[in-house]
Order: sequence, then structure tokens, then C-alpha cells
Amino acid sequence: MFSRFTLCLIATLCASAAMAQQTDPGPGRRLAERFCTSCHEIRPGETGAGPMAAAPPFQLVARMPSTTQLALHVFLSTSHAGMPNILLTEQEIDELAAYIVSLAPTPK
Ligand code: HEC
Repeated sequence: MFSRFTLCLIATLCASAAMAQQTDPGPGRRLAERFCTSCHEIRPGETGAGPMAAAPPFQLVARMPSTTQLALHVFLSTSHAGMPNILLTEQEIDELAAYIVSLAPTPK
């Protein structure tokens, strides 16, 4: 039989594991600054035309109802619009997607 303390400990461990799974947007922002700013506006609040007019600012991408972590993951798994030189790992894709999703006005 588990003691109350053990149950409490297990509950705490599970809760912190669940929190750790949510990807932190910080690293994604740094990746975006490195790889995406040559064409996109990537910062919160930036909605004007970026360095490449055809490339939508991430703030606007985040506002589109179709933008989700999963949709971004799929999109970024292939290169787009002359972005073939950027080879992203699965983890980098997740981090970038988490950053873009974090720009949405309401959490998704
Ligand atoms: C060489 C220029 C260029 C670079 C570099 C670039 N993009 Fe793009 N991106 C575009 C253009 C142009 C579009 C719009 C046309 C399209 O979707 O192909 C676009 C569209 C997008 C979209 C919109 C998808 C949608 O649903 O409309 C996302 C998200 C995106 N880029 C993410 C990124 C990320 C993340 C990076 C950095 C890893 C990046 N892009 C780097 C040019 C670029």
C-alpha cells in the first residue's frame, strides 16, 4: 500500500514531466532569428512587409486559424520558397513551431 507521501511524490513527478513536454518558445525564437529573418519578420507585433514581401510575418502566420503546432511541423518538414539550404532537425522544427504558435493572441 502506498503511503500518502509516496502518492504525493508520484503526482508531483508526473505533473513536472507533463510541464517539461511543453516546448519552450525561447530556443525557437533564437533559431528564427538565425534562419528566418532574411525573409520573414519574426518578432511579436511585427506585421509589416519583411525583407521579402512574399514571406508573411510570423505574427500574421500565428493569427491564422489554420496555424497549429502540428500544421507548422508538417510545413517546416519540407523546404519552402527558396529555403532549401536550411536543414532543420525534428527538435528545431518543434522549437520553431512552438515559437510561432506562442505569437498567437490566444493560446492554441
Ligand atoms: C528565402 C526566403 C525565406 C526563408 C529563409 C524562410 N522563408 Fe518562410 N516563407 C517564405 C515565403 C516567400 C513564404 C510564402 C510562400 C510560401 O508559403 O511558400 C513563406 C511562408 C512561410 C510560412 C507560412 C505558411 C503558411 O501557412 O502560410 C511559415 C510558417 C514560414 N514561412 C516559416 C519559416 C521559418 C520557420 C523559416 C526559418 C527556419 C523560414 N520560413 C525561412 C520565404 C522564406
